[in-house]
Amino acid sequence: MRIHVYETEQEACRAAATVIAAQLIRKPDAVLGLATGSSPVPAYLELRRLYEAGVIDFSRARSYNLDEYVGLSSEHPCSYHYFMQENLFSHVNIRPENTHVPDGDAENLDATAQAYDRAIQEAGGIDLQLLGIGRNGHIGFNEPGDEFIYGCHVVDLSESTIQANTRFFASEDEVPRKAISLGIGSIMSAKTVLLIATGESKAEAVRDSVCGPVTPKVQASILRTHPDAIFFLDRAAARLL
Ligand code: F6R
Repeated sequence: MRIHVYETEQEACRAAATVIAAQLIRKPDAVLGLATGSSPVPAYLELRRLYEAGVIDFSRARSYNLDEYVGLSSEHPCSYHYFMQENLFSHVNIRPENTHVPDGDAENLDATAQAYDRAIQEAGGIDLQLLGIGRNGHIGFNEPGDEFIYGCHVVDLSESTIQANTRFFASEDEVPRKAISLGIGSIMSAKTVLLIATGESKAEAVRDSVCGPVTPKVQASILRTHPDAIFFLDRAAARLL
């Protein structure tokens, strides 16, 4: 695992976006694993800027998002489908049929999860996986627990995640209690993993992932065993290292 620390959130995210841009230049049909939440937003802005400047082209890129809430339709403004349209997809020339976000509104969620893993495998696996990190060390929605779950699966969101994500909803009651998430196996199978962590609230999770034992209690700690994982941190998130 390599760790890069920048003064500001902006710089950390720009650096991560630069690696994604380089991936697209080296492999125009790259399979990108994408994340939602606040952390990657400045990176998506930078990718939009690079696209508008003619530096990168998404026309052959394929993308698979990490996760989606259970029970929200893709049109719901708090859904991750909607987030991706707003923050990236509608601003670049990625083909809609090449973008994938798990269907959290499906009738049979287990079958949907299995099909999602198969689709990623059939696409050749993820070349570059972008991640944020939860305050409890989660990646995707792989919450702290007694094991690392390999495949895409339905998750009961932890109390800390529900509270952290209440800021996106009108009230805590509206935050879905379940999500569908890529498992640790698919994340670890990505050839390159980029994790963005910014802000004081991520400092403990970053410290525990980087300095503590590799344990499912801190799911991001598994990234220490990945051959090409890079953490992009701002000074605040790196405070306890
Ligand atoms: C989002 C995801 C989550 C977030 C994490 C941090 O697709 O998988 O793991 O990356 O909850 O969220 P923010 O960036 O909003 O602090």
